[in-house]
Amino acid sequence: MNKIALVTGANKGIGYTTVKMLAEQGMTVLLGSRDEQRGQQAAQQLAQQGLDVHYLHLDMEDSSSFTSAYSYIADTYGKLDILINNAGVQIESDTWQTNTTESIPMEILRKTFDINFFGMVELTQKLLPLIRKSEAGRIVNLTSILGSLEFHATPGSNTYNTKTFAYNTSKTAVNSFTIHLAHLLKDTNIRVNAAHPGWVQTDMGGKGAHLTPEQGASTSIMLALIDDDGHHGSYLHNDSILPW
Ligand SMILES: NC(=O)c1ccc[n+]([C@@H]2O[C@H](COP(=O)([O-])OP(=O)(O)OC[C@H]3O[C@@H](n4cnc5c(N)ncnc54)[C@H](OP(=O)(O)O)[C@@H]3O)[C@@H](O)[C@H]2O)c1
Repeated sequence: MNKIALVTGANKGIGYTTVKMLAEQGMTVLLGSRDEQRGQQAAQQLAQQGLDVHYLHLDMEDSSSFTSAYSYIADTYGKLDILINNAGVQIESDTWQTNTTESIPMEILRKTFDINFFGMVELTQKLLPLIRKSEAGRIVNLTSILGSLEFHATPGSNTYNTKTFAYNTSKTAVNSFTIHLAHLLKDTNIRVNAAHPGWVQTDMGGKGAHLTPEQGASTSIMLALIDDDGHHGSYLHNDSILPW
């Protein structure tokens, strides 16, 4: 049977390109999207190019969508080989230059964590039994260099003055989740890693970003296809290991 992959938040941006690049490897790829119309349209665009891509409803704030996704994948494929936890938001500020530590409204902090962290953890817990059925399961958690505590605490680092509190701390939590999950799965055939895509031209990254979506998706693709003895519990941008 083909490899089965799922990418969350994949109707646009890095997620969409990740779906395309995985499907071009000959895999069956489920394109997760919270919005049915946007998701169906994106999946159709790729299917029209001859790729085996299917829309799957997944809203990171709605755990009933996780249950439905589990049932669909279990009934249709009986396993999941690759889970790319890509969906994410930055909703606290129009600019990355404002330190929001004092001003962040609690509802924005909670919503950011609901989507970027709690949803990721709950979906992964839900799908793990299906990933354990894969011969070589791979889990890739999209994080950011802005999740690195070491860079944030180091004056002069590239990210020292980017103190978007909700986004940054949600990605630090993603990093910690990656370490804990990797420990849990250390004696299995599943590899778990955190991917920083770089600064990428998407709705989130903005027009000033220097990487294309293809370049941004390359770390996720590398970790999705990694060998059994490859990275596990690492925080990477392409081949570079980042400090937690
Ligand atoms: N772009 C960068 O420079 C950059 C840098 C570092 C890390 N990242 C990370 O890379 C990942 C992808 O980012 P991107 O640049 O591709 O962002 P993007 O273009 O804004 O796309 C984000 C995706 O997440 C989806 N999403 C948002 N809330 C969701 C929810 N509640 N349930 C399901 N899906 C949801 C969006 O769906 P809708 O269209 O419905 O909103 C969209 O498909 C994110 O985790 C981001 O934090 C990006």
